[in-house]
Amino acid sequence: MVGGRGRGSNLRALVAEFNGDASVSVVSVIATASDSPALEWAEGQNLRTAAIPPRPSETYASRLLEHLHGVEWICLAGYLNLLPPEVLAAFPGRILNIHPALLPKFGGKGMYGLHVHSAVLAANETVSGCTVHYVSEVYDEGEVLAQATCPVMKTDTPETLAARVLRLEHLLYPEAVRFAIERARA
Ligand code: GRF
Repeated sequence: MVGGRGRGSNLRALVAEFNGDASVSVVSVIATASDSPALEWAEGQNLRTAAIPPRPSETYASRLLEHLHGVEWICLAGYLNLLPPEVLAAFPGRILNIHPALLPKFGGKGMYGLHVHSAVLAANETVSGCTVHYVSEVYDEGEVLAQATCPVMKTDTPETLAARVLRLEHLLYPEAVRFAIERARA
C-alpha cells in the first residue's frame, strides 16, 4: 500500500525481489489516490491495483478489506495514514512498514519524507538508516523487525541523506519482508 504521492521505488524493489518466486508474490497494489505514480507503474505490471481514498472514513475499512481479499501480508511504503483498526485486526502480525530513519528516533506523525532527514541533520546525528517494523495503531511504534545503517556526512543536505537512506531501503525491505514471511510460516 502506498500513499498518493508515492514514487513506488520500494514497491519496485519488492516486486523485483519476488518476481518468479514460487512461494511469495506481490499481487495487489493499493494507493490512496488514483494519480499515484506507484499505482501507474503497477498498472503496467500485471498487478491488481486500486485507488482507495481514506474518505469517507466510515467505509474506508470495508473498501480496503474487500480489495484485500486473498492477500496474506500488507507492506506499506510511503503510506501516510493510520490503517483502520478493522484492517489491523484482519492481518495480525502481517503488516509491515518501512521508515527512513532509525526508530524509535525520528518517527511519529508528521515525520515523513524530508522532514525526517532534516530532523536527523538538526540533531547532529552521525548515523542514520532505515527501519522495517510491524504496524500498530500508533504511527511508527510497532515492533522493529530490521534496521540498516549508513553514515551521515557533515556535508549532507536532507536530499543527499534521503538518497543514501533510500538506496538502503531498497536492500533492507525485500530482505526483511522475506524473513518475516518465512519466519511466520516456519
Ligand atoms: C520511503 O522513504 C519510505 O521509507 C517512506 O516513504 C518513502 C516511500 O518511497 N515510508 P517510495 O515511494 O517507495 O519511493
